[in-house]
Amino acid sequence: MNIFRTKSVEQSIRDTQEPEHQLRKTLGPIDLIVFGIGVIIGTGIFVLTGTAAANYSGPGIAISFMVAGVACGLAALCYAEFASSVPVAGSAYTYSYAALGEFIAWVIGWDLILEFLVGASTVSVGWSQYFVSILKSLGIFLPGVITGKAALLPGLLPGLRLDLPAAMIALVLTAILVMGVHTSSRFNLVVTIIKLSVVVFFIVFGIFFIHPANWTPFIPPAQSVAGKGVLESPFLQLILGFPPEVYGISGLITGAAIVFFAYIGFDIVATTAEETKKPQRDMPIGILGSLAICTTLYIIVSLIMTGIVSYKQLNTAAPMATTFEIIKQSWAAGLVSVGAICGLTAVVMILMLGQSRVFFAMSRDHLLPSWFAKVHPRFGTPYRISIVTGVIVATIAAFTPIGDLAELVNIGTLLAFVLVSIGVLVLRRTQPNMHRAFRTPGVPVVPILAALICLGLMLYLPLITWIRFAAWLVLGIIIYFLYGVHHSRLAREEIKEIGKDTLLEDSTATSSD
Ligand code: ALA
Repeated sequence: MNIFRTKSVEQSIRDTQEPEHQLRKTLGPIDLIVFGIGVIIGTGIFVLTGTAAANYSGPGIAISFMVAGVACGLAALCYAEFASSVPVAGSAYTYSYAALGEFIAWVIGWDLILEFLVGASTVSVGWSQYFVSILKSLGIFLPGVITGKAALLPGLLPGLRLDLPAAMIALVLTAILVMGVHTSSRFNLVVTIIKLSVVVFFIVFGIFFIHPANWTPFIPPAQSVAGKGVLESPFLQLILGFPPEVYGISGLITGAAIVFFAYIGFDIVATTAEETKKPQRDMPIGILGSLAICTTLYIIVSLIMTGIVSYKQLNTAAPMATTFEIIKQSWAAGLVSVGAICGLTAVVMILMLGQSRVFFAMSRDHLLPSWFAKVHPRFGTPYRISIVTGVIVATIAAFTPIGDLAELVNIGTLLAFVLVSIGVLVLRRTQPNMHRAFRTPGVPVVPILAALICLGLMLYLPLITWIRFAAWLVLGIIIYFLYGVHHSRLAREEIKEIGKDTLLEDSTATSSD
């Protein structure tokens, strides 16, 4: 049982050409950039900027965005090399299969499932909050019992909440996804344009209300926080035995580990490689282009936000709207909320798209039941997976108080970035002559730095996040040993090859007798 067998890049590409597993190639470079921006700009900028500034970074949140942006930029250079040379759905999962072997590939695929499923559920819940507040401003009040505000069965199960709008958005978007990636990319284009316009509006309008005094001190002095539980403290501080503190330099880095969520998504561009017309040229453009645009917008938005009001006032679920409310520009706050809800819609949809593509690649390799990998005869999409994904996301979003589960998404994604960066180094060694349309510059420094910075950010996440993440991985490893290791298509093909060789040897031996 060789759990470190690797699947060659050529084999992965051959699998994509089997008729029953073929996805339609419809996407071009602009589609990819729009896809990227569509999924990148979301809860991170519309929600987390405020809480991270208020609780950890102060006005220095712009620096936190830069730190997270550098980590993602370096990792994106590694993703671009893989996505342009291994244009196969599955992204980091497929790359690890080629570079690091089946077991690591399974772990990373399992990890991506967590990133996308929990990510889509988290953003659906955020969507629902904006939805409820917009309806409220229109004079429509939904009962708390269906919006997760009041217990569903107070007498029986006081902890059980139902967030119906969150489930509803996940299911509606699932239907759009089943109808085809091209339809969904059209839909995404419209939503993304609205969202981008709102972000640009925030910048252009907000700039007139800046009071530079709000930026002083730019990095508030570190403060120790008494009473913070061990489970909530950053893992690194616990290892090094430092008392938990906020603000200062460590606050900036904790802030970076939190707003990292804002960048998640450029890696999802890579999951659509198989549906791209010219992946060799367009993947690097899509990945690096969308990331560069978003990083620039984030830094400017966070500077403007903390320039208009004091960072201490930003601890709210809708900081961009709150900023305008505070300066009595309610119409502008309303406009921002509409943009946010559009933005979040696109994020949920593309996270589910990414999830279905990774799942697709894993079941095509029979590490998960291959029943899932069937493509719809008319729409050309992996509809079974999309439906299963949609139902799971809707269920989690409907019943789970998500809270700090967003940090779980961050830790999972950071691990994927670490492994992809290491994968580039390994594949350069094991397959030096493979054709690479895009080559990561500065190897080995860039991949090593990418891996180290991402690992550093992981260490700034709380202990509880590490524990939950470990539990998820253990579950995944159990499933692999119960199912994947026995059904793996690669393993079966290897056994067949060995069988053929043995037969051949036997018959040669018999004939020479
Ligand atoms: N980057 C995405 C967001 O911020 C996941 O919502």
